[in-house]
Order: sequence, then structure tokens, then C-alpha cells
Amino acid sequence: MNRASAAVLAMWGGLVLSSAGMPFPVAAATDAGVEARLKARGLDPAQVARGRVVFDGHCARCHGAEGKGKFRNWREPDADGNYPPPPLDDKGYARHHPTEALLEAVHVGSPQGYGIMPRWENRLAEPDIRAVVAYVKSLWSDAAYREWMDIERASQEP
Ligand code: HEC
Repeated sequence: MNRASAAVLAMWGGLVLSSAGMPFPVAAATDAGVEARLKARGLDPAQVARGRVVFDGHCARCHGAEGKGKFRNWREPDADGNYPPPPLDDKGYARHHPTEALLEAVHVGSPQGYGIMPRWENRLAEPDIRAVVAYVKSLWSDAAYREWMDIERASQEP
């Protein structure tokens, strides 16, 4: 991670913490740079902040803090044939999936009978699912995000 993105992540942490118990939008924009960077991606800073709370509460135990992953061997199935939770940041494959596929992954979880990714559609409200997917997108580098934009656009062509 470069120093700029470390600062951005630290900043979000600070924003979320300092706003504990306060209503969203969290990003009462003490740092215009963070907001500008998210907005340049078409992401809503308040939604991303909400997504971070959802992620820390439900997803980080498997996907690691900030989606950095917790399992070095995530590409190898374990003894039961299940894949360990992958990282969701630049290291993983999530950034190769358009929004629809990311939402689908969170809604339904692992295909039935395979894998341990839970099905979230009945456990999280739809706005929280959308927010957590926005947060996942905020974890990618600018270069990865640019590549992802092409994938997203291609997915929307008729
Ligand atoms: C119990 C562990 C666990 C939890 C909790 C969990 N996941 Fe997963 N997740 C997985 C596994 C394992 C996979 C890989 C898919 C598979 O093996 O079926 C996965 C896959 C994914 C993918 C697809 C990644 C890719 O590379 O295509 C996304 C997106 C995702 N999870 C997001 C989330 C979000 C958001 C949450 C919280 C709401 C969450 N996960 C909670 C285990 C978990």
C-alpha cells in the first residue's frame, strides 16, 4: 500500500470512529481529498462509510480488515473442498466482477453445497448490501478501479 492510500484508509477509520453514535452521513468531510477521491469513482462517501460499518461487523472476520484477506492459501481448497475466504482488495478477483456480480455474490453466497460464503439477502437490509459493495469498491487502487470501470461498462452493454 502506498502512503497516500494508507492515509485515506486511516482517515476513514477516524471518520467512522469519531462519528460513533451519530447518524450518517459520517463523512462530514474533514478531509475534502477523501471525498473527492470517492466521488471521482462515482461512490457516495456516506454510503461507503455505512458499508465499512457493515463490513467490519459481518465480513472482516472472514475477508480480513479492509478486505486484505486472512488466508495466504486462499486459492487452494481445504480438506473439505471449500475455498478459504479470498481477499477483496486488489489481490483478489472481486475487482474483476461488475457490480451486478458482486451484489449477487453477497445476496446468495456460495453456490449451494459449495463453499462457506454465507447468503446475506435475508440477514442484511438491501441498502446495507449495496453499501458494503460500495465499500468493497473503495478498497481498490486507482489503477484497479480504472480496469474495473471497463468491466462494468462491458457488463452494461446490451
Ligand atoms: C464465513 C466466512 C465469510 C463471511 C462472514 C463472508 N464471506 Fe464473502 N466469501 C467467503 C468465501 C469462502 C468466498 C469464496 C466463494 C466460495 O468459496 O464460494 C467469499 C466470496 C465473496 C465475494 C466474491 C469474491 C470474488 O473474488 O469473486 C464477495 C464479493 C464477498 N465474499 C463479500 C462478502 C461480504 C460483503 C461479506 C459480509 C456481508 C462477506 N463476504 C462475508 C467467506 C465469507
